[in-house]
Amino acid sequence: NSSRDVEIVEVGPRDGLQNIKTTIPTATKVELIRRLADTGLVNIEATSFVSPKWVPQLADGALVMKQILQHPGHEYQSRQLNYPVLAPNQKGLQNAHAAGAKEIVVFASVTKAFSKANQNCTVDQALLHCEAVTKEALHLGIRVRGVVSCIFSDPFSGPTPPEAVLPVVRRLLDMGCYEVGLGDTLGVGTPKKVQDLLETLLAEIPANKLAGHFHDTYGQGVANIVRAYDLGIRKFDSSVAGLGGCPYAPGARGNVATEDVIYTLENSGISTGINLGALCTVGQWISNEIGIPYASRAGVAIASK
Ligand code: HMG
Ligand code: MG
Repeated sequence: NSSRDVEIVEVGPRDGLQNIKTTIPTATKVELIRRLADTGLVNIEATSFVSPKWVPQLADGALVMKQILQHPGHEYQSRQLNYPVLAPNQKGLQNAHAAGAKEIVVFASVTKAFSKANQNCTVDQALLHCEAVTKEALHLGIRVRGVVSCIFSDPFSGPTPPEAVLPVVRRLLDMGCYEVGLGDTLGVGTPKKVQDLLETLLAEIPANKLAGHFHDTYGQGVANIVRAYDLGIRKFDSSVAGLGGCPYAPGARGNVATEDVIYTLENSGISTGINLGALCTVGQWISNEIGIPYASRAGVAIASK
């Protein structure tokens, strides 16, 4: 959307919910996505088509997609909305396609240990799956986004050198992903680490092919986004209420809260097209539904005014 300076990919319904242990009703997930769309968000990662044994919370992905793609009478349907869904293998792609997905996300870790823990395969095997899935998806007219994990550190094997990230990103772009999200799975990044990595990547890859996907374990998510923005990145993943985390990344917290990101950007003269007040209401609501304290700093401050 040309009237927006920065594009946000809301990942709450996927990254945010995948790690919640109590079963969330399908109707609540659908309602969350509808309410998020009503705040002006146009990219909402809706669910995952992964093994239900690995991520039971998102086992109802097909139902969620079916329900959000229905109801043409809804006001938000008049805008072009993207509902990317995770699909790591052929089975995921088949199910996503059958459910009506027009965009999938393929993912691979930069590091071996997390690749094994999260996808039960090596980095090379994960990339081969990504490649097969991407080729098939493009053939079906489905857009493909890539996301890499562990850009700064692996939960089991420690720090990731920036040079290790570049070939994985390049591979995903070469196979046909339209952009690659840079996943700080553990949320250990800092602006300095963001700068070091981006200086390596941007030497070879245009900024508009990259997006930031920062988890907020150490409260650095907003600072990381500001540094990435200054270096030319214009697309960021974030999660309403700061929900989330990966069940296979011990110690990791949720993504940076979308509310906090919007507060920073809009107050820096950078437009996002998202209504912050409305978004805070959604953040408060979903936190209540799940039964957790509302964790966006900006959201809590705005709600208590
Ligand atoms: P596996 O156990 O090695 O694979 O898992 P398998 O082929 O042996 O399959 C096991 C069972 O799952 C079989 O069923 C398959 O049919 C089924 P069974 O025969 O035993 O009844 N299965 C599926 N069912 C539905 N949809 C599918 C699918 N695939 C297999 N797509 C596998 C390998 C990759 C499937 C598994 O490891 C997996 O699903 N991993 C995904 C884990 C995940 O979703 N993690 C969170 C998302 S990644 C993330 O959060 C990071 C990110 O946010 C960026 C960042 O922050 O870094 C993106
Ligand atoms: Mg993530």
